[in-house]
Amino acid sequence: MKEKGLLIKNAAELVTCSGFKAKSGAEMSDLKVIKNGAVIIEEGIIKVVGTTAELLQQYKEEDYTVVDATNKAVLPGFIDSHTHFVFGGYRAEEFSWRLKGEGYMEIMKRGGGIISSVRATKEATKAELVAAGLKRLDTMLSFGVTTVEGKSGYGLDYDTELKQLEAMKEIADIHPMDVVTTFLGAHAVPQDYKGKEDEFIDYMIEEVLPAVADKKLAEFCDIFCEKNVFSVAQSRRLLTKAKELGMKLKLHADEIVQLGGAELAAELKAISADHLLQASDAGIAAMAEKGVVATLLPATAFSLKEEFARGRYMIDQGCAVALATDLNPGSCFTMSVPLVFALATLYMKLTPEEAITAFTVNAAAAVDRAHEVGSIDVGKQGDIVMLEFPSYNFIPYHIGVSTVEKVIKRGKIVFDKEKGGSLC
Ligand code: NIG
Ligand code: FE
Repeated sequence: MKEKGLLIKNAAELVTCSGFKAKSGAEMSDLKVIKNGAVIIEEGIIKVVGTTAELLQQYKEEDYTVVDATNKAVLPGFIDSHTHFVFGGYRAEEFSWRLKGEGYMEIMKRGGGIISSVRATKEATKAELVAAGLKRLDTMLSFGVTTVEGKSGYGLDYDTELKQLEAMKEIADIHPMDVVTTFLGAHAVPQDYKGKEDEFIDYMIEEVLPAVADKKLAEFCDIFCEKNVFSVAQSRRLLTKAKELGMKLKLHADEIVQLGGAELAAELKAISADHLLQASDAGIAAMAEKGVVATLLPATAFSLKEEFARGRYMIDQGCAVALATDLNPGSCFTMSVPLVFALATLYMKLTPEEAITAFTVNAAAAVDRAHEVGSIDVGKQGDIVMLEFPSYNFIPYHIGVSTVEKVIKRGKIVFDKEKGGSLC
């Protein structure tokens, strides 16, 4: 027998975020809200969207599993488009050093930081990485995340990079969340390549990247383009090769130092450039012109006690801005979507509407999925979040606390606060 579809009715606000590509500049303010809205999902796909009155004229409630959203806001599932959620070990001690005044890059220079997560990830078995990753995704799901991007980059060698990516593929087969994988083999310079960064890039280009592409383990290639890590020229070399192999591009750009990462992202027509705390005016203008999504990670700036990226300025300059958590074991150990909303609105001066666009359709665009997810539009996946409150304005207002009551993935309820949490 055909499974019943899902009908969500009486939503105080159906925040559709309607659109199939990134929204830039002033377009980010229009959430296309339907008051007293309803939506029907069949076989995982959104079939009908409108007011409750319109839908109930044409469709019979008894044919559906019904979710009554009276006094609740309903939004597209959030997309966390920049995370490093698969890693071995933890760096709590390093965090305490940072609290006592040591700098993130200082710790990295003396073999800590990313390199210490590399050691722990090498030691972990794939099964251990899968188990830890699954738990983290459960937490993210409770915050309303229905699609996540995950990066490798805690291997820096053939075996461990592939192990990390394979772990993410296994996780994707088990967990209801969609997982988009990114190869970040050039995330740090391993100890034995110090001063020989070009040779390391050669190794990545000749040995690791082709295997990743051949085994279809990653859709994106990313690099940490930063002073004392990889230069603009080295980044260009690796990313150009990745593009030739059919991969899409992302960059960790202009995070600590203004290096020209934003300009490089525009030159290479990357899908997104991320962090951008120090991005130049020219880099921002170039990204706006070439349609590169500016993915901002305010929880990282917060955790590193750095100035926030110029989110307001970027939107005013016509950029498409996305928001993400950057969950990772070092610079930013959080999966908290509500914290990111709070920081983006309070400190980067995004309006609630812009922040929601940034976590939905623009985040979908940042993982090249805006045709499939990120809005409540007919034909897209039935990925939905229902809040405990009647308006999307409660998201930034309820600081650092989740307002999510239910999460629906492909038309199935996978998280329900009223039933004690995760149902998957
Ligand atoms: O996005 N900046 C580089 N990479 C990560 C941090 C990774 C780590 O510290 O483990 C980031 O912030
Ligand atoms: Fe990152």
